[in-house]
Formats: sequence, C-alpha cells, structure tokens
Amino acid sequence: MGKLDLSKGGANHQKATGEDDRMTTAQGHPVADDQNWLTAGPRGPQLLEDHIAREKIFHFDHERIPERVVHARGYGVHGHFELKEAIPELSRAAIFNEVGVKTPTFTRFSTVAGNKGSPDLARDVRGFATKFYTSEGNWDLVGNNIPVFFIQDAIKFPDLIHAAKPAPDRGFPQAQTAHDNFWDFISLSPEAMNMVMWIMSDRTIPRSFRFMEGFGVHTFRLVNAEGKSHFVKFHWKPKLGLQSVIWNEALKVNGMDPDFHRRDMWDAIDAGDYPQWDLGIQVFDEEFAEQFPFDVLDATKIIPEEDVPVRIIGTLTLDANVDNFFAETEQVAFCTQNIVPGIDHSNDPLLQGRNFSYLDTQLKRLGSPNFTHIPINAPKCPVRHYQQDGHMAMTNPKGRVNYEPNSWDQGEGPRETPGGFESYPEQVEGPKLRARSETFADHYSQARQFYISQTPVEQTHMANALTFELSKCQEMRVRTRMVGHLRHIDEGLAKEVADGLGFTELPEKPKAAKDPITDLKESPALSIVKNGPGSFKGRKLGIYIAEG
Ligand code: HEM
Repeated sequence: MGKLDLSKGGANHQKATGEDDRMTTAQGHPVADDQNWLTAGPRGPQLLEDHIAREKIFHFDHERIPERVVHARGYGVHGHFELKEAIPELSRAAIFNEVGVKTPTFTRFSTVAGNKGSPDLARDVRGFATKFYTSEGNWDLVGNNIPVFFIQDAIKFPDLIHAAKPAPDRGFPQAQTAHDNFWDFISLSPEAMNMVMWIMSDRTIPRSFRFMEGFGVHTFRLVNAEGKSHFVKFHWKPKLGLQSVIWNEALKVNGMDPDFHRRDMWDAIDAGDYPQWDLGIQVFDEEFAEQFPFDVLDATKIIPEEDVPVRIIGTLTLDANVDNFFAETEQVAFCTQNIVPGIDHSNDPLLQGRNFSYLDTQLKRLGSPNFTHIPINAPKCPVRHYQQDGHMAMTNPKGRVNYEPNSWDQGEGPRETPGGFESYPEQVEGPKLRARSETFADHYSQARQFYISQTPVEQTHMANALTFELSKCQEMRVRTRMVGHLRHIDEGLAKEVADGLGFTELPEKPKAAKDPITDLKESPALSIVKNGPGSFKGRKLGIYIAEG
C-alpha cells in the first residue's frame, strides 16, 4: 500500500511505491494528484484546463446505461452444461451430440416488472435465461420459472408490460402489490387465465433462484442430420427441488434484505455449494401435436407430462460468480433468435415477436450493433464474417476483402459452410390476415387443471393471493370481471375469493370464446392423474423457511 501523505490540506495521497500499480487516466497518462482539481491560486476558481479532472468527471457522468425495459433486476452467474445423453436421432446440434463435453454457460435470473433497485421477493415471474457458448455459436434459452405466458401474440406485450409497470401519472405501484391497471388488463384478456393461476401460486415467491424450475415456454423444433424435425419443449429441473416462501415471509424478507436472492446465489457459489439443474426435453411430432385439444404454438399452454414425459439429457452446474457485475450481468444480451444448427423456431406468434424485440432493444440498451464484441456476449468459437465498423468495433474483417463472393484465394476471407444453419423447410401457405386461430381459443381448461392439481394448502394460498391482490383494486368492475373468470376455472375458488372480497352474490361469467373442456377425462391429452397434471406432476410445495 502507498503511504498516506497528509501534508496537502488533509487530502489523503496514496503514492505508488515498489510494486504498487501506477494510477493513470483512461489514456494511460500517469496521475500525480487525484485529490485536487487544478485551480488558479490556492483559493481561486477551478481551471477547465485540467484534463485529468475533466476526463474523470466526464466518464462518471456517463456510467449509466438504460436498464432493461423488462427483467431489469437480475443476477448472473457462470457455469457449464454437460450432456449426459446424446440425441442424434432428434438434433444435429453439437451440444446435443458430444456426451461429457462441458459447454460454458452464463445464466441470468431476474424478476420481470420491478426496476433495477426493486426487492427480490416481489410476487413476480422469474426469468431464467441461459447462454450456451457452443462450438457452433451461442444458443440462448431465454425462459421463465413458469411454463406458460400471459399472452399468445407478441403484439400485446407492450400493453401487458405497461399495465404491470408503474402507472405513467403516479409512478407507482409495481409488482409488489396488485393494482388496477394490471388486473384491468388481465381481466380483459381471458388468454391470461392459465398464467394467472400460476402467478397466484407460490411459484412466484420462490425461496431462492436455486429452488426454481425453468422453462423455455415456447414449442421449438429439433432437426436431425437427415432434416427430420420434432417439436420440443425445454425444461430445467432443479436438483435441490422446488421451494417457495409464503407471502408474509416474502414481505418480511423484502424489508430486511431486498437482495436476498442474489446474496443467496453469491454465498452458495462462494462456498462451493454449486446449484445444478437437469435439462429435460419433451419431444413430439406434428401428428402427435394434432391430437391435443389446444395448439402447441400457443404459449399459454403446457404439454402435460403424462402425455409427453420429460426426458433428462444433461446437467447445468453454476460454479462461478461474476468478476464484474456491470460488465457481465448488466451487459449480457440474451435473444431467442440465437439458435444453432439442429434447433429451430416454431410459428408460435409470441416467440416470433420476441425474436425481433430482444435484438432491437439491445441496440438501444448497449448502444452499438457491436455488442457481440463485449466478452460476455462474444461466442467462444471462431467468428468470421464481413460485418464491419459501427460504434466500438473491435474485430473488423482482416485483410483486403470485406465482401463476398470474391475472387481471392481461400483463406483471404470466410466462405459459406456446408452443413451450416438451415431453416426447417416447413410447408406454409394461406392468406395474410390478422386473426387468432380457433385452436388458441380455450382459455380456461388448463387454468382449471393447474388449480385442481394443487394440494389444499396450495389452493388456499392461491385463493388468499387472489383475494389480497384483487382487494387492492379500487375498480369494482375489475374485481367483478376477475371473479367472473374464476367461475370458469373453479366455482369453489370463485366463491372463496368473492367471499373474501365481500361480494354478496357471484357475478356473471364472462362469455367464453370457447367453452372449457368440462370433462377433462374425455381428452387423453388432458387426463388427470393422481399426482396432478402437467409439468407440475408430483412436485408439491416443499419446505418453508421459518414461519413468520
Ligand atoms: C427480457 C423471458 C416474452 C421482450 C427477458 C428476460 C427473460 C425473458 C428471461 C431477461 C433476459 C436477461 O436476463 O437479460 C421471456 C419469456 C417470454 C417473454 C419466457 C414469453 C414466453 C417477451 C415478449 C417480448 C419480450 C413477448 C416482446 C415482444 C423482452 C425484452 C427484454 C426481455 C425487450 C429485455 C432484453 C434486454 O434488454 O436485454 N425476457 N420474455 N419478452 N424480454 Fe422477454
């Protein structure tokens, strides 16, 4: 350590001696005095001439970048994915064919609605986004801890998020308590009812990131070397199991330690207690998909695990904290369009909107189309193309050529690669139109299925959560509409919530676009089994942390 020199007006000078690093400006100029701005005389005005002081203040003034428009609060950690079972019959992706190979990863967990400084235990969906730095480029699995979503079409996303975030006039409230705008939007969007059941369950107040499931949500495609395609849903299964807190614990934890979840992750990894998740896939073909009474392109629906079991193929281990929160967690840019040969998108209208939105927002958030040059976003395989220039370009094409085709010898520039990415040649036809397919119309069956699969304790928590949240709505119209929707899902639940809200009678049910499937047993795809349906089979509430 440099010795303190208190001789100059109390300023603490720590001069470099011996092995100390020399302090410099960003230009590398050695700095002799970092405590005093250049002035005209000891008590005179500060001089603009002081390039050292100006550079320091200039840089400080520009430290902030826009927070993410959603999922602003997040926590990132490094890890690796190890394939346990190769699936060449399903996908030609190298990451799914090299058993035992450890693919480096970066995972960012997040809340959705709160800003960067919001508390960790808000009742909210959690983001679970993983970047796999594969030998064939980056694959981003940008999922949530809930397997379904609020809306079916990305064009509604700005409205959903506006309604969930602070109101423009007052700047409050957000996810921590319910509010009129959010429930107004939800009550006018019956497609959200399945997601509403999931967010009113204990899953939206997880004990920590380590005890959450993750889901890719959308139906994607896997494509094998022969070009054969299967539909796939991706699942993360935590080795530690699934655990939540209860609402009054969440409130207390938020008050005592708003950083509870990020601290938990940091501490676990720091102590060598590395959390792990198994990667599971649900695979089915187009003929099988046709049998479901819902559309597999509809992100408000799960594929029940009884119908398509989850097959575990590998394990994610999170084993290193970041060195620099801003450089890594803040600057990481996930995008659903980042897929590798052997994985492809489906026509899910929510997924296709996301493919546009992430790249678009990241240009604004990170300020340059060259954000792939930032180490956390850079692929860990060779990158050769003819893109060039732009703000902060670090890796322009080398040599004479920056175009193709060109006449120069092999090695002068990159060439198209046989076996590179090819879109699955799905047959498509039809008129251009703005309309939702009839196959997206059943909004209540899976909501009911989820509710009745829960234990009595869990059901009570859901009824309490709904009553609490709706009691925060000033608008009686909104409360009434919501209880009406609940009647389509479960009359008992609707009654419980109505009683809690002080209703003297049950409101009318809103007209359903399609009647829910009342006898679920009629449909093999929606069969109810002992442990409950869907991806929540057999996993109950788990243990609680101290009852408050
Ligand atoms: C961010 C998941 C739907 C737009 C995120 C993040 C996750 C996520 C996990 C945080 C990524 C990170 O940690 O940096 C999901 C899931 C969705 C969904 C699972 C539905 C299945 C949508 C839709 C849109 C959208 C429909 C827009 C049409 C965004 C944007 C960001 C974001 C703009 C911020 C990205 C950034 O600034 O880097 N989403 N999202 N999301 N999402 Fe989504």
